[in-house]
Formats: sequence, C-alpha cells, structure tokens
Amino acid sequence: MAKVTLTVNGRAVSGECEDRTLLVNFLREKLALTGTHVGCDTTQCGACVVHMDGKSVKSCSVLAVQASGSTVTTIEGLASGGELHPVQAAFKEHHGLQCGFCTPGMVMTAVDMINRHGGALDEATVRHELEGNICRCTGYHNIVKAVLAANAEMHAGRQAAE
Ligand code: FES
Ligand code: FES
Repeated sequence: MAKVTLTVNGRAVSGECEDRTLLVNFLREKLALTGTHVGCDTTQCGACVVHMDGKSVKSCSVLAVQASGSTVTTIEGLASGGELHPVQAAFKEHHGLQCGFCTPGMVMTAVDMINRHGGALDEATVRHELEGNICRCTGYHNIVKAVLAANAEMHAGRQAAE
C-alpha cells in the first residue's frame, strides 16, 4: 500500500491505495469525485482528463502515487461561487453535449487548450487538440463551436483586465 497526498480542487487530501491504483480510480473511489469518467482501458477516449499542476492529463495514464504531491483539478473544481466556468457555460449555450459522458474530459481539455494558446485558437487547432477526446454522440461540430466561443469570451476577459 502507498500513501497518496494531493491537493484536489483546492482541498488537501490524502489516502492509502495500492501501488498500481490509477489516479482516475483514486479520484472516483477514494474521493467520490465521479465527474471524471472512465470510457476505455486503452488511454484513447479522454473521458478521464483532469488537470495536474495546471496541465491536462489522462488520469487513467497516471498512477495515484505518481501524482502524489501535485495539485489536481477535476470537473467538480471548475465552477466557482455557483457560476459555471466559461467553458462549461459555452458547452451549455452551444449544445456541445448530448449524453454528457465525454463532457468532463472535453471541458478539462478545452480549458487547458485555451489557457495554452492565449486566445489564438482557430478551428483547425481545436480539432487537432481534441484528437485525444472521443465523443460518440455529437459529431464534434458543436463542441468545436463551444470551445471557440469560450476562447473568445476568456480572451476578451483577459484583454479587458490588461
Ligand atoms: S479512460 Fe479513456 S483515456 Fe482515460
Ligand atoms: S456527448 Fe455522448 S459521448 Fe460525447
């Protein structure tokens, strides 16, 4: 057994798990953060994406012990003060989801993508960056629209603050 200590959604947490426990299972089973989904066992679907130290990772490809000491944000930690994060709001506004299974991973990937590109995102880049996230309902079109809309909104907010 290994001891894992993390900061998750701003809260210090710790727990014991087997050495082989994946971060996604630690989040879901030890911390009851079931918004992070498991959609495959081949690290292809992206339903499990969270942020580790600010960068998106597939949490099924990281051992919980490897993540120990890091800061993790899950989909449950994105909204603040009862307000949806702009990416969540854009997915809602632009119908970027149907069944919703892929949505937490899509949203976490999109937030990291928008942060990294500093507002300079185009459709081709969004589609390329979403290659690691599979959606079997939407056909991706409205997801891409939502990411671009959120990017415009978040970038405008940044410009206004500068
Ligand atoms: S569960 Fe499918 S990539 Fe992680
Ligand atoms: S909305 Fe159903 S898998 Fe994407």
